[in-house]
Amino acid sequence: MTDTVNEKASPEPSSRFGDRDAVFGDSPEGTDVWQRVPYNPDDYGPVKDFATDFDHADRQYNPNAPEVWKELRESGCPVAHSDRYGGMWVPITHDMVHEVAYDTDHFTSRAVVPAVGRPGDLAMPAPVGGVPPISSDPPFHAMARRPLLPPFAPKQIEPWEDEVRVLCRHLLDEMGDITPGESVVDAAIDYAQNIPVNVIGRMLGFPEKDEALFRQFVHDAMERIDEEPGTQNGLDDLGKYIGEQIEDHRNNPRDDLTSYLMNVELDGNKLSDDHVGGSIILLLVAGIDTTWSAIGSSLWHLAQNPADRKRLIDDPEVMTFAIEEFLRAYAPVTMGRMVAKDHDFNGCPMKKDDWVLLPFPAANRDPKQFEDADKFIIDRKENRHAAFGLGIHRCLGSNLARLELRVAIEEFISRFPNFELAGDTRWSVGQIRGPRELPVRILAD
Ligand code: HEM
Repeated sequence: MTDTVNEKASPEPSSRFGDRDAVFGDSPEGTDVWQRVPYNPDDYGPVKDFATDFDHADRQYNPNAPEVWKELRESGCPVAHSDRYGGMWVPITHDMVHEVAYDTDHFTSRAVVPAVGRPGDLAMPAPVGGVPPISSDPPFHAMARRPLLPPFAPKQIEPWEDEVRVLCRHLLDEMGDITPGESVVDAAIDYAQNIPVNVIGRMLGFPEKDEALFRQFVHDAMERIDEEPGTQNGLDDLGKYIGEQIEDHRNNPRDDLTSYLMNVELDGNKLSDDHVGGSIILLLVAGIDTTWSAIGSSLWHLAQNPADRKRLIDDPEVMTFAIEEFLRAYAPVTMGRMVAKDHDFNGCPMKKDDWVLLPFPAANRDPKQFEDADKFIIDRKENRHAAFGLGIHRCLGSNLARLELRVAIEEFISRFPNFELAGDTRWSVGQIRGPRELPVRILAD
């Protein structure tokens, strides 16, 4: 067990991305990370009742999340609660997720990854936050979002299609000689996990050899949330790594997203290194395991549903609808908020600094919002899903995500029209849901 505060060891830094190695900044308590209750690993054992003891890091949650939401709904519990993480609420209906996402007065985005440690009040100050714009509140949010819109607009993203296709084909080639009926490949490890990291790494102008490092960063940031704060060294290394990349781009400017961010102006001023570095962290984290999870879950579905595979092959036009249905039914991203001030939310007495989980994937399975919500309907026509979020923080990378997801599926089923699950799927831990190991057996065409 540790104290409720972590002593700050290093002297006052000038920037999080230069001489300082911690991603979290300072807090008024003089700490890097603030814990509302002392950390005790025994508090994070297996969950018995998700209604009163919800934990998104419970190893049984992601494999069974749709069943958990259904049970909560049917037992009349639209808002689950947990004492874990120092206090957390989890609304699961579409209306309530919508209400929280749009209410930026009561719910701040200064921290969006509910975990054991909270950033201190000055560590990730709203309205800017540590990873703008996802950590920014109004009115700064709109300003922080604006410079990121042009690089992710359809016109900028469409030219990546050929590159993504070449990458997917290369990954399929790398799987080697395939003997139908015998060969087993891992659709997550050998395929899905490599696609988004390669694309965002190249967009940012980072060395391709560092892809495994980026995945490690994402693992530390998103999956190790129930471990003692301060033990995720990868996150400190990330601050250092990005500082070095910014420096390298300062010395050798080039035509990539990092140089763009370093030169773009907000109201006549260039962004600070902290802002540039924070946005890069966001793009790495938001751009990698989200799409990797979406590709993996879609292939997991197709491995078990031959009729859907056949439909996609026989009728490629249906792909447009299928992509939206994959995103709805297997939405990978749940986000977090912090309660900004004491608030009665539909009868729940929320207190300042409580966490709130925003499970967009649960909203997508709400039967009040979608007919046959738990059924995958490959050509579902009415599909206003919330996979990319709701409100001001709606995903900026949705054009890129859709492109990667579509091309990855097109290429996989074109090479392997028939495949089935060939062992246990290992699911991620935490708020990004998707397969991390997905063995599939390739079958004869
Ligand atoms: C299937 C893949 C993806 C899904 C499901 C997804 C989902 C989401 C969701 C739900 C949010 C809202 C966050 C909130 O409300 O706090 C979001 C925000 C964001 N996403 Fe994505 N995302 C995906 C891929 C990407 C990619 C590839 C990028 C860019 C490389 C990206 C960049 C962002 C950014 C920058 C934001 C913050 C926007 C803001 O705060 O204004 N995302 N995403």
